[in-house]
Amino acid sequence: METLHQRSTAARVWAAAEEFIRLHHRENPEAGDVEARLADVRDEIRVLGTYRHTAEELVHGARVAWRNSNRCIGRLYWNSLRVRDLRGLTGADEIAAACFDHLREATNGGRIRPTITVFAPDIPGRPGPLIWNEQLIRYAGYGSDGRTVGDPRNEGFTAGVQRLGWPGGPGTPFDLLPLVVQGCDDKPRWFELPADAVLEVPVEHPEGDRWTDWGLRWHAVPAISNMTLEIGGVRYPAAPFNGWYMGTEIGARNLADGDRYDLLPEVARRLGLDTSSDRSLWKDRALVELNRAVLDSFDRAGVTIADHHTESRRFLTHMEREERKGREVGADWSWIVPPMSGAATPVFHRTYDTTERTPAYVHHPGALARARGAGLGEEPAEVPGGPTGVLGGVPAPRSGTGLAEPVEEHEKAPAPELRPDACPGPVVQVRPGACPVRRKEPVAEAG
Ligand code: ARG
Repeated sequence: METLHQRSTAARVWAAAEEFIRLHHRENPEAGDVEARLADVRDEIRVLGTYRHTAEELVHGARVAWRNSNRCIGRLYWNSLRVRDLRGLTGADEIAAACFDHLREATNGGRIRPTITVFAPDIPGRPGPLIWNEQLIRYAGYGSDGRTVGDPRNEGFTAGVQRLGWPGGPGTPFDLLPLVVQGCDDKPRWFELPADAVLEVPVEHPEGDRWTDWGLRWHAVPAISNMTLEIGGVRYPAAPFNGWYMGTEIGARNLADGDRYDLLPEVARRLGLDTSSDRSLWKDRALVELNRAVLDSFDRAGVTIADHHTESRRFLTHMEREERKGREVGADWSWIVPPMSGAATPVFHRTYDTTERTPAYVHHPGALARARGAGLGEEPAEVPGGPTGVLGGVPAPRSGTGLAEPVEEHEKAPAPELRPDACPGPVVQVRPGACPVRRKEPVAEAG
């Protein structure tokens, strides 16, 4: 017998479905008779508690979710997102292999293509698969006493995947983490990234011979893998997506933040700057040179990257285009304004509508904990195995119904200490206390 809970959940799914299907048909008149499609969807929800998107609905939903990402400066190209429809995949091995194909296709020899791969959705009684990593490509962080080798952001995850049996190594500051995938009705398993799926760029300064021996590098493709794609009441918890980088994400945050690679003092030393007083502006000068190095290195390697001046102009073009179509653009000032030279970019000098719209990419509460490795390999006892899929760890906490629940029940605003980056296109990360617009959520320190 249908429970009250099921009935109210189905009612919510229907409400969200109707809104999305109407939007889809409004924006794609070739989709045909909206009332006929709505009648089918309603019947399906009545029987199954959910419904299946058509291929076209999935494509449009994923693109509009990008268009609706208020934190993303790179939305001009939302309508060209490539959508790989792999909703049939539920098992860890096949999902990991498809993620590696995603990376190969998105990397495209350096001409990065914004791409999303959509795996099985949550359905009533059967939550969909999960990717534990926050991005498909991330660097390990070893140690916890403030003297980390690698990326301190990934210390928890690195420890977790080691508990699962990942041996770690080779021990450089840029060791690639394995992918951790949890298939439907399974435990998380880890998979080493194949070398041919990962393009990396050595970072060197255009003029500095003192930079060449430094072993600095970054990966070419930012591919967020722990956000749920929500379209019309259906949740796709495993739907990794990527755009290309904006230089400041690497040069002004990943390599520069004090709680990340913290390289400004070393850059200043190599540049021979006077670091004895803040007033020499050595940090600012080091930042500029580090960011020049990032942009120049990607250019020389033939890898797509945007600079923050160009991307800011593109964003304003995007806003004009959308407004001409009669659509309002939501934006979060504290994420849109680049983390260096903010007022030198046009996006600084205005305010934005902050309304959140759906479809959307959403962080569910468990996702942030999983990206920190919480619970990974802790219980029950580990089962030994090889590098292609080691069992262990507790199944991730999953939602009861497997259906999209109201927004308030989710973590629309992610936990402050792990500010996610929710955008296939270039995105910037937040700086504390820099926003003229009142925000609902607290501003996070780390991106
Ligand atoms: N800021 C994140 C990073 O540095 C990536 C977020 C997504 N960025 C993008 N350009 N699509 O890894």
